Amino acid sequence: MSSRPLSPEAFVNELVRIDRLIAEGQLQAAAEALNAVQRSDPGDPRPLLVGMRLARAANNPAGELQAARRAVALSPQWPVSVTELGFALSRQGQHAEAMEQARKAVSLAPQEVEVVSRAVGIANDAAEHEQALEWVRAALALVPPDRLGLPGAQILRYEQAHQLTRLEQHEQALPLFTALLEEIPDSPAARQGALECARALGDAELERRHADALLALAPDHPHYQYQHAVAYDETPQTQPDSVVAELFDQHAKDFDMLLVRGLKYRLPELVAQRLLELHPDRRFNLLDLGCGTGLLAVFLGPIEGHIIGVDLSEKMLEQAARTRLYSRLHQVNILDALRETPADLYEVIACNDVLVYVGELTQVIPNAWRVLKPGGHFIFSCESAGEDEADLVLRGSSGRYAHKRSHVERLCREAGFEDIEVEQLEQLRLEGGQPLPGYLVVARKPAQPTPLAA
Ligand SMILES: C[S@@+](CC[C@H](N)C(=O)[O-])C[C@H]1O[C@@H](n2cnc3c(N)ncnc32)[C@H](O)[C@@H]1O
Repeated sequence: MSSRPLSPEAFVNELVRIDRLIAEGQLQAAAEALNAVQRSDPGDPRPLLVGMRLARAANNPAGELQAARRAVALSPQWPVSVTELGFALSRQGQHAEAMEQARKAVSLAPQEVEVVSRAVGIANDAAEHEQALEWVRAALALVPPDRLGLPGAQILRYEQAHQLTRLEQHEQALPLFTALLEEIPDSPAARQGALECARALGDAELERRHADALLALAPDHPHYQYQHAVAYDETPQTQPDSVVAELFDQHAKDFDMLLVRGLKYRLPELVAQRLLELHPDRRFNLLDLGCGTGLLAVFLGPIEGHIIGVDLSEKMLEQAARTRLYSRLHQVNILDALRETPADLYEVIACNDVLVYVGELTQVIPNAWRVLKPGGHFIFSCESAGEDEADLVLRGSSGRYAHKRSHVERLCREAGFEDIEVEQLEQLRLEGGQPLPGYLVVARKPAQPTPLAA
């Protein structure tokens, strides 16, 4: 059945209205309206792009891909549908094919900012940062010099600086951020980029100048307050959620390769071994705090109990979901998760390489004790602070917290743990090519806990 063609203006208005229905969750009404629009012009790929959004809202990844492929079949030379297909593939972890689409889109419109930026997003998700940088550079080479100060070119210049930062080429990135800030001094993104470069290059004075300017943009912003405190060598008690989520969202795709292969990170394997020694029958429920990509579950393999993962980074959780080993995954701060979990629930709580981002432990340790079943174990790692340092130290060079071992042991004892074993680890992983020292704590909640003195 075909419908009467709509005027071009009515066609677009109808797509906008359908998009609004999708945003409001009125998916049935959106689907019906979309079918009608499609019938009015079956050769137009735009309703299919709206159909992709509808399928995504309806949690239908196969439908999303199908709509994207049909859009590309209708308009193989239209870079928008090609990048949309690339994005859909990328979201579903099909990075090789996503990159093919991104390459095709860039070749169709090598200097179109929107297309190049989206292709860069696909490349970032595939951890192909060199390729992303190459596309941005090629696009910038096509911009006439007198147009480099226009907003579109500024976006590309920012991307270039940002990619260089990702590739740890801070010396090259810094002048690019600085030039952008001369044109747009109120750009938080360029300011943060410059601040990060100054910190990485060890220029404390410049870092403080950028931190001052960043905080002046929004004095109540927790992220900027945190950056400011770090620049001034203060020790905030914890990191804002946004700092952690941004950091790990960026690295989710290459996390396993980078950490396990590149930086020789062995904690998940080591902790999995310890857990199987404690529970050779594999019958236990595990709360994996800061589960990341799910490496602990992978090293454990299936167990006869539930593994619940908690993490702040959506992208890390997406990777963990792929393992299919977690009964549930929650995007939440571990401090909130621990506070809100009922008592006496888990045989094991694990927290590998996470407290280095959490900082203050005075809530974490007693809450972990409460949430464990009697006889349960809390197993967690810390980076070492010297006994002559403060209990909690924020290392400016890495942005991670180190904890004094005697302080951590005292907190465990005060919370009511017994059998507190601390294993010194000469190498948690590599940092700047050098072993990074730390320790692994295994603390047991008494089988019949005695109430703590009032
Ligand atoms: C270095 S990764 C370790 C991941 C995993 N535990 C492993 O050993 O492979 C740190 C993880 O902790 C998460 N994280 C850090 N602070 C957190 C917090 N306060 N609440 C929840 N997740 C946090 C990060 O998002 C990241 O996925």
